[in-house]
Amino acid sequence: MKITVIGLGYLGATHAVAMSKTGHQVIGLEKNPAKLESLKQGKAGFFEPGLDEALAVEIASGRLTFQADHDENSAAADLHFICVGTPQTKESLAADTSYLFSAIEDLAPHLKPESVVVGKSTVPVGTAAALHSRLAELTGFEPHLAWNPEFLREGTALEDSLRPDRLVVGVNDERSEAALREVFAPMIASGIPFLVVDIPTAELVKAAANAFLATKISFINAMAEIAEVAGADASQLAEAIGYDERIGNKFLRNGVGFGGGCLPKDIRALMARAEELGVGQSVAYLKEIDNINLRRRERVVAMLEAELGNLSKKRILVLGAAFKPDSDDVRDSPALGIAMLAYAKGAEVVIHDPVALPGVALKHPELIGQQDLEKAFSDVEAVVLATEWREYRQLDPATVVGKVANALIIDGRNVLDINSWQHAGFKVLALGKNVKGNK
Ligand SMILES: NC(=O)c1ccc[n+]([C@@H]2O[C@H](COP(=O)([O-])OP(=O)(O)OC[C@H]3O[C@@H](n4cnc5c(N)ncnc54)[C@H](O)[C@@H]3O)[C@@H](O)[C@H]2O)c1
Repeated sequence: MKITVIGLGYLGATHAVAMSKTGHQVIGLEKNPAKLESLKQGKAGFFEPGLDEALAVEIASGRLTFQADHDENSAAADLHFICVGTPQTKESLAADTSYLFSAIEDLAPHLKPESVVVGKSTVPVGTAAALHSRLAELTGFEPHLAWNPEFLREGTALEDSLRPDRLVVGVNDERSEAALREVFAPMIASGIPFLVVDIPTAELVKAAANAFLATKISFINAMAEIAEVAGADASQLAEAIGYDERIGNKFLRNGVGFGGGCLPKDIRALMARAEELGVGQSVAYLKEIDNINLRRRERVVAMLEAELGNLSKKRILVLGAAFKPDSDDVRDSPALGIAMLAYAKGAEVVIHDPVALPGVALKHPELIGQQDLEKAFSDVEAVVLATEWREYRQLDPATVVGKVANALIIDGRNVLDINSWQHAGFKVLALGKNVKGNK
């Protein structure tokens, strides 16, 4: 089929490559000139394992092209996937849906009545209905508008797009359902569950999934708060309850909590939307889920203060800046949150990340980015492991212990082999447990 993908960030660039790999003719549309140029050169412009390589192959195949604006060629598409951002608004918890409306404004003059517009962005329930009305107003015909939420995870984005756990499509009309069945035909044929639902359900599925995941993480982090004062071990607790298959052990690791461009803003947007719909109480508990999550960052800084006293002028190393390994996404990153809290207390904060430092430099030039891992340890008083990159898990503590004045490391992700770090001479602290064996 012939398709367009509008908005080529983490979601759109990955979706465009996945659709091209599936065999479709894909035109990617991106407004940001630097991103567009980079994509044309075969670079996604962000770090995602395997994506640049796949992008180059798809461009070379002739199936994937990029442009800034709609033209006759893009207008001929059977489907238009809209993948623009829906960030949190500055003034409230609600999502900013304005990028969707402006994408619709751009598309309307070129939209053919038989083409199907498919939203993939994560939106407050009810957004599609408003977009549908606006599109009808702009085009003068009844448009085919469907919703197809995306569940990809950064770090495994392409694999998740090609082989998702399930495909969910919200449709209002047969034409949309038929077009979506056709575009996803190879995936459906491979046995991936294909759920056809109404549009509000499709919009809500993504918010519900993220609310559940955030709740699971904050649940174990709440247990960690109790474990820390009661002398229990939240990691053992998670393992013990995770064996119950009704609970499951995934997303049940205690640590510095969740972040990124999705979970935090999606639970806030759900609270805001439920409030607008008059059922705010139903998800009022998500406020506490958010608070528990943010408190973990404060807890790490409180641990530093308990060990080092006043943090003013103390040099602290934060290992990791991205919100998770195998990504360079620093949006709402717990690591950056911790770094900035320590900085606000007067600390000099050195931050290391294998790929995310350019994003840190743009957002927080006050932090000292250091690309060289060994150099990053030089002359620091304490270390916080905030993102569980493999480099940190595999680091030999004996090679760095001499560089850290207080030989203190706080394992914010519960991934270090505590014995070997202690053996090398480190004092190891971790979230959710009272570490034994420190000298
Ligand atoms: N990042 C993820 O892992 C992920 C996963 C699932 C769902 N989502 C959802 O996908 C949506 C996009 O997220 P993202 O992380 O890719 O955001 P992003 O900010 O990385 O990408 C959005 C892109 O859209 C472009 N854009 C904006 N308006 C445009 C327009 N009118 N025409 C063409 N391009 C336009 C921007 O320049 C930007 O490149 C959000 O709703 C998000 O919640 C993201």
